[in-house]
Amino acid sequence: MSDNKMILKHPISSRVFHWFLLLSFLPLAATGLLLFFKPLDQAGMQLSYDIHMIAGAVMAIDAVAFFIFAFDRVVLFTYRVFAVSKRDIGWMMVAGGYPHKFFPGIFKTKPNVPEMNKYNTGQRIFGAAVIVGGSVLIISGLVLWLAPHIAPAGAVYWLGQAHLVFGLLLTAFLPVHLFLAVYFWSDFKAMMSHGKIPYEDAKHHSPLWVKNEIVPTMTAGEQAAAK
Ligand code: HEM
Repeated sequence: MSDNKMILKHPISSRVFHWFLLLSFLPLAATGLLLFFKPLDQAGMQLSYDIHMIAGAVMAIDAVAFFIFAFDRVVLFTYRVFAVSKRDIGWMMVAGGYPHKFFPGIFKTKPNVPEMNKYNTGQRIFGAAVIVGGSVLIISGLVLWLAPHIAPAGAVYWLGQAHLVFGLLLTAFLPVHLFLAVYFWSDFKAMMSHGKIPYEDAKHHSPLWVKNEIVPTMTAGEQAAAK
């Protein structure tokens, strides 16, 4: 296989979903923090509220559309995220090898990082937070917005608390996700534009995915060259 062979990592449906997710979630996180800390005057707070509702509606429509039109991707991603194995414990014991990668002067020994599937343990923890937290945020947000006086007061209170906790949790995850997204530049280009990454990168970061899902789809000649 030639060195520059590219393989598809993120199909168009996932990329479109992800684009709308980031375009809606970034203003949601910013205006959510403003609504929580209330640093602005009345006009500023009202504007934050309006932006929060519009961006929330965009995120809800994006999620429902992805669920309906790319149900197979939703099922596959959910399976990938929650398929826990012993390798995850090994990955967490060495924090994915990132301490050695970023601070080799302090963490001198190169750790033994277990082979990962399409996403590593850290990405899957974030993925689980997005699936669970995103669902809670969308459902609770819709009730708090559209039916605060119709739903039972106790339920509205707990939905408000859940909205706050998951909103803060996902917002706290975001800087790490953004940093790693840009750090792994070929993954960034794939998710943001053409969906493809170099075969060698995939083999390095996601060896089990390549071995179990990519190689079986390759021709015999490609498989021989890839060895
Ligand atoms: C400017 C903002 C963002 C950028 C640049 C970005 C970038 C990326 C990239 C490059 C990937 C692919 C990683 C890979 O191929 O291994 C990815 C995956 C993902 N992104 Fe984002 N993202 C952004 C915002 C968000 C937001 C706001 C959310 C949800 C709240 C999100 C949720 C996810 C999830 C669940 C995945 C799959 C699991 C993972 O790779 O962590 N992203 N993102």
